[in-house]
Amino acid sequence: MTGRLQGKSALVTGSARGIGRAFAEAYVREGATVAIADINMARAEETAAAIGPAAYAVELDVTNQASIDRAIATVEARTGGLDILINNAALFDLAPIVEITRESYDKLYAINVAGTLFTLQAAARSMIRRGKGGKIINMASQAGRRGEALVAVYCSTKAAVISLTQSAGLDLIRHGINVNAIAPGVVDGEHWDGVDAHFARYENRPLGEKKRLVGEAVPFGRMGRAEDLTGMAIFLATPEADYIVAQTYNVDGGNWMS
Ligand SMILES: NC(=O)c1ccc[n+]([C@@H]2O[C@H](COP(=O)([O-])OP(=O)(O)OC[C@H]3O[C@@H](n4cnc5c(N)ncnc54)[C@H](O)[C@@H]3O)[C@@H](O)[C@H]2O)c1
Repeated sequence: MTGRLQGKSALVTGSARGIGRAFAEAYVREGATVAIADINMARAEETAAAIGPAAYAVELDVTNQASIDRAIATVEARTGGLDILINNAALFDLAPIVEITRESYDKLYAINVAGTLFTLQAAARSMIRRGKGGKIINMASQAGRRGEALVAVYCSTKAAVISLTQSAGLDLIRHGINVNAIAPGVVDGEHWDGVDAHFARYENRPLGEKKRLVGEAVPFGRMGRAEDLTGMAIFLATPEADYIVAQTYNVDGGNWMS
């Protein structure tokens, strides 16, 4: 099936690489025009060029309000209005409780929580002004469903994303804006290469071992791939999801049930 997002204008934060890039590719295949909005502009340009003319790079730092407002204004000017936002940009860090630094805490909360909230807010303002409703999808995580010994800060930011999805979902549905979230499990890619390196250091493992172990532990039998998540991201952006409000969906090969 293709064309499910024909004529729609989407912005995907953090889509220069990884899961966000896969979302952008899938949305373009479905007929949408997609802003590849990322703090890494060189990589965003490369990704947009690789995807084709329906994708364009937009510089975005989700920790900077002026940058968020500029990115939304760029999408409005280029496409006539924003239909879909995916709040995907995030940062990971890992440390035992006694080693967590304020610097790491502030950075993760600035990107994963404040970045999600204020990008969502700017998108919602734009959608309300236009009066055609919209779809907002936040990237949560299985990390937001339960704590992990070495991952306190990141886990708590993703729990906050699940909570913000509920509150924003309840508030914005009266404007015809659906806010929902996707909670992936473990998804292979550059992000998890970094996670694996962190675990290698703190758990004294060879590189690659943590990845192998988490993959084997997934009920489906392997780590996720970015493409495993695109079906849910498309569905939540279509009119078929109009009656779905404030939910977080696990797309994780069976890791978590809730
Ligand atoms: N990979 C996984 O296993 C996994 C699991 C659960 C949830 N997630 C979530 O899925 C989303 C995507 O993950 P990924 O694995 O593709 O991550 P990734 O690290 O590969 O990509 C993140 C992107 O965000 C961009 N970014 C970072 N800071 C930014 C900022 N301040 N403003 C704008 N862009 C910024 C980066 O340049 C990068 O392109 C994240 O929200 C992540 O928490 C990932």
